[in-house]
Order: sequence, then structure tokens, then C-alpha cells
Amino acid sequence: MKVTIVGAGAVGASCAEYIAIKDFASEVVLLDIKEGVAEGKAMDLMQCASLNGFDTRIVGSTNDYGKTAGSDIVVITSGIPRKPGMTREELIGINAGIVKTVSSSLLEHSPDAIVIVVSNPMDTMTYLVHKSTGLPRHRIIGMGGALDSARFKYRLAEALGAPISDVDGMVIGGHSDTGMVPLTSHATRNSLKVSEFLSAERLQQVAEDTKVGGATLTKLLGTSAWYAPGAAVSALVQAIACDQKKMFPCSALLQGEYGLDDLCIGVPVILGRGGIEKIVEIALSDAEKAKMAESAEGVSKTNALLDV
Ligand code: 2OP
Repeated sequence: MKVTIVGAGAVGASCAEYIAIKDFASEVVLLDIKEGVAEGKAMDLMQCASLNGFDTRIVGSTNDYGKTAGSDIVVITSGIPRKPGMTREELIGINAGIVKTVSSSLLEHSPDAIVIVVSNPMDTMTYLVHKSTGLPRHRIIGMGGALDSARFKYRLAEALGAPISDVDGMVIGGHSDTGMVPLTSHATRNSLKVSEFLSAERLQQVAEDTKVGGATLTKLLGTSAWYAPGAAVSALVQAIACDQKKMFPCSALLQGEYGLDDLCIGVPVILGRGGIEKIVEIALSDAEKAKMAESAEGVSKTNALLDV
């Protein structure tokens, strides 16, 4: 199982580290345009192998896509991260060109690869990859909801005073500060609805804190987060590589599901060796349906800025 990660920045390198530690891939190629960065991070990570007990080979490459040839899964993290006060959507001007070029270079060497898009604004970048590559929709996956759901669970556990392993929850919708839809009506603590334990006001606060989870960290760090984004990507890669049939909220190209068409937005999907093996339509409350429709409007507005 060969995985290529383009962008050896903090997210890409964290993802490579988590994939290596999980040890399900034979090779991870880390590629960057900045001279030596990918090679250096790959070497540094390989020097953890005896300490962290993995046999995965991590190889670095400065912009040599030949080294990525034959990848089963490719991950696009390249582009600039946001600064404090910025929205993800403001990155489109720079990141769209990068993502278009990178996806074309990757598929030239790995025509059968499954593509995971991380670069922001992620839903629109995922849509761009569809439009620019023409790949079947099951082979293009946007990573946002897995990260947002992890932040949702963190906030739920915080509110409940419970260990995170007791908590479950999912965030669908756009991966944006305003477009996320945390499914508070479905969230559980040990299979019991969290509304049994939290007031409506406290749950609303959990949802609001979740939506700005990325911006909260960008304010603290001065740049976008990387540990949880890297971990979220590695979970998607593992589900595909190991054919796990796991359900994750991912940005997928919709063709009528949830009453939406011709846009990529976070919905529950089943991930396996074929990529998106099923888009799962779940029952949403009227309020959740309205939030989803509003979120889709926001994503479509950003998509309209693309020249595809
Ligand atoms: C985040 O929410 C980078 O969009 C990513 O942290």
C-alpha cells in the first residue's frame, strides 16, 4: 500500500507520522516544493521507526512526482494555511491553482489513485479536483467532517465531564466557520442522547464552539492546526487502505442526495478500498435540513469563484 502526501507542512508531516505509527502502509512519500523540506522531515520521521516500532518506509521528495508513481492513495495538503482572523474561503485565490496543478501531477503518475483533499477552502477544492480531473466521484474525498466531528466530541466530552471514549457525534455540512452542522440531536454518551445530560443552551454552545474550532486554534497558534487535521486524514487513509467500511462525514460530490446537486459538502459516507463506497442519507430534523441547505448555499457561492 503506497500513500503519497503532497505538502510536507505541519498537517502533511503529522499525517505521515500517524500513518507510519499505525503501520498499515508499506510506503509513504512526502512531497513538497520547498528544497529539502520533505526529505528532511521524512528522514527525521524514519529516525523514529525504531522508537515508535514501525516498518513503514517514509520517503521525501522535492517536487519529483516520479517518486509518487503507483500510489494507491494520494493526499493533497498543499497550499497556504489561514492566519488569525481569516476565513478558509479567503485562501481560494492562491490554493485553487496549487490544488489543480498538484492533482494533475499526481494522477499523471498514479492514474488509479484515490484522492483525499485537505487544502482549504476544502469543499471547494474537492469540487475543483472533480471538475479538473473528471475522476469518478467515489475516488475523490474531502477531509473536513472527520476533523470537525473530533472537535465536536472534544467539546461534548468537556461539557459532559466525560471521557471522550464515552462520546459519539458527527458534524456534516461545509467545512467552514459558519457552515458546519453539528448533529446535536444524534450525539450520544454511551448510546444515550446527550440531551439527557445537557441543557439545550449548553448543547448550542457546544455546537458553536465546534464550528469555530479551527479559528480558535488559529488564534492561539498564529496558523492553522495540524495534529488533529493530520490524525483525521490518517483515519480516512487507514479506512481506505484497510478496506474498513467505516463511516465518516466527508466532503463528497452530491448528485441529488440530501436534495443537493453538483457540489461537494460533508455527508456521512462509508469508506473502503474503493474510496466512497456509499453515501449514507440519514434522517435530519427540519432545523438540520435548513442548516444543511444554508451551508450548501455558502459552499456554492465559494465554488462560483472558481474558473472551472
Ligand atoms: C482546520 O479546521 C485546517 O481547516 C483545518 O484546522
